[in-house]
Amino acid sequence: MEETESSRTAVLVCQARAVAHGRLAPGRFDDPIASALLRPDERAAVERVRSDEPPRGMGPRLEFEFLRATAEGLVPRTVAIDDAVRERARPQLVILGAGLDGRAWRMPELADTAVFEVDHPRSQQDKRERAAALPPPAGKVAFVPVDFTADDDLGEALESAGYGTGRPTTWIWEGVVPYLTRAEVAATLRALTEASAPGSRLVVHYQAPSLAASIGRPVARAMRRLSRQPDPMAHEPWRSAWTPAAMRDLLAGQGYTVADDTDLLSLAEALGMPVRTPRSLRSGRVLIADR
Ligand SMILES: C[S@@+](CC[C@H](N)C(=O)[O-])C[C@H]1O[C@@H](n2cnc3c(N)ncnc32)[C@H](O)[C@@H]1O
Repeated sequence: MEETESSRTAVLVCQARAVAHGRLAPGRFDDPIASALLRPDERAAVERVRSDEPPRGMGPRLEFEFLRATAEGLVPRTVAIDDAVRERARPQLVILGAGLDGRAWRMPELADTAVFEVDHPRSQQDKRERAAALPPPAGKVAFVPVDFTADDDLGEALESAGYGTGRPTTWIWEGVVPYLTRAEVAATLRALTEASAPGSRLVVHYQAPSLAASIGRPVARAMRRLSRQPDPMAHEPWRSAWTPAAMRDLLAGQGYTVADDTDLLSLAEALGMPVRTPRSLRSGRVLIADR
């Protein structure tokens, strides 16, 4: 991420959840907070997709299709992570690279959980401004600014916000690993492990290597440039992809046991939701590991 601006991919995935709300996997996926976190122009783009009427012109059509496809991936990943959080209540939940995550506001199950939202300082400032208009969260939320690519001490930052290293924690690391190098992923994992009491759980969403994605992303970028469409990924390039075996080895090295590691397409199929873009879901994965 660039130092000067807040995350645009955080806005994109929030828009995608707003697109999906009430339409994809109803009864299993639900995110009424997403729309409330968006600015009016961002919400207008969501409404265009929800209208199901593709706009004319290459630029608007590109934005429409991209947002519609992103919404399909967000549903299985959100449901799998929510289920992993609900499976066993722990006194603390840390959301790493929280962006515009609405869990602290939309999950009543978190009423007795201390939630810590960790994010890059720029993105977190943006979130705090947007969240000011939300109804109160289910329980307590603390905002903890940390840059995973700098020398920031994650454990220290959390402790100064009231985090207790002796208490079990559920960690959510969703939509962040691809934006970090392998070394930054390993260093962040070491830091969160040091701050994890026995009985903690780590839920990671990551990207497996994919030929379709490595061709598709530069093509999409070129098409956006041609049609003078803003690129939400312009300042947030992907830096690491992990095979399931490599991710499992990394976690085993820190003492984790993997309870589940499933691709987004299988998760979407299990939800019985229609999928228009199966290829882009195949390489995204949600892994649950305990320690
Ligand atoms: C695609 S968004 C995902 C947001 C959220 N987890 C979700 O799934 O809705 C990527 C998030 O990673 C955060 N991020 C990226 N690089 C980071 C870094 N070096 N340090 C801290 N956070 C970072 C961004 O600020 C942004 O909130």
